[in-house]
Amino acid sequence: MTKTHPPSIIAIDGPAASGKSTLGLKLAQALGYLFFDTGVMYRAITWLALDRDIDVRDEAQITALAEGTPIDVAPASRSDGRVCDVLVGGKDITWETRLPIVDANVSVVSAYPGVRAALSKQQRRIGQRGRVVMVGRDIGTVVLPEADLKIYLDASAEERARRRYNELIARGANVKYEDILAKVIERDRIDSTRDVAPLKAAPDAIIIDSDKMSIDEVFEKVLALCK
Ligand code: DC
Repeated sequence: MTKTHPPSIIAIDGPAASGKSTLGLKLAQALGYLFFDTGVMYRAITWLALDRDIDVRDEAQITALAEGTPIDVAPASRSDGRVCDVLVGGKDITWETRLPIVDANVSVVSAYPGVRAALSKQQRRIGQRGRVVMVGRDIGTVVLPEADLKIYLDASAEERARRRYNELIARGANVKYEDILAKVIERDRIDSTRDVAPLKAAPDAIIIDSDKMSIDEVFEKVLALCK
């Protein structure tokens, strides 16, 4: 049973490529709620730093960048596969945030406490308005512990690497499954061992393992919890 019924604030957390965004978007559309994928904010700061030749190991400069950069996350303005628009200073950086170079550096950036404080504050403000499906790593534990429904969507590293591999191949990338699996495992390690807001299920989260379930099955299960 959720705290308010139907739940107004829905938090979906879990590791990279567990299907959180697909589930969150479908759920938000079904309920007429705002969909907010918080990972795009960490990605936006990472891309901006790389674009400006700031060393991602320079915690002070990266933190200043996060504190001084308002990021707009808006409903998708184009049907080119995006789930939302990511804008900084009016510039559309949606696809830049998905570059492999961002994947490779975002875990380091998102481990900085000052970066997390700055971005969590922006996320919390949006989430507290309600009628929202918010996706991330620490939504149910840190950003919105008062969420009405908390889902922790899990899947094995192999299954998640396979999904990411298929996505990239479909987009025409030349990648190897083994390399992707190694990166998934490394990102899991950084995300779940960092000092601030590590990836973990909230004690009151409903844990769903999507290894043997299709995204539609997961969606139906979560929708039933909302109704
Ligand atoms: O979900 P994603 O792959 O777009 O997330 C990108 C990175 O941001 C990932 O390393 C985890 C981090 N992240 C986080 O620490 N907290 C969040 N609420 C969302 C993402």
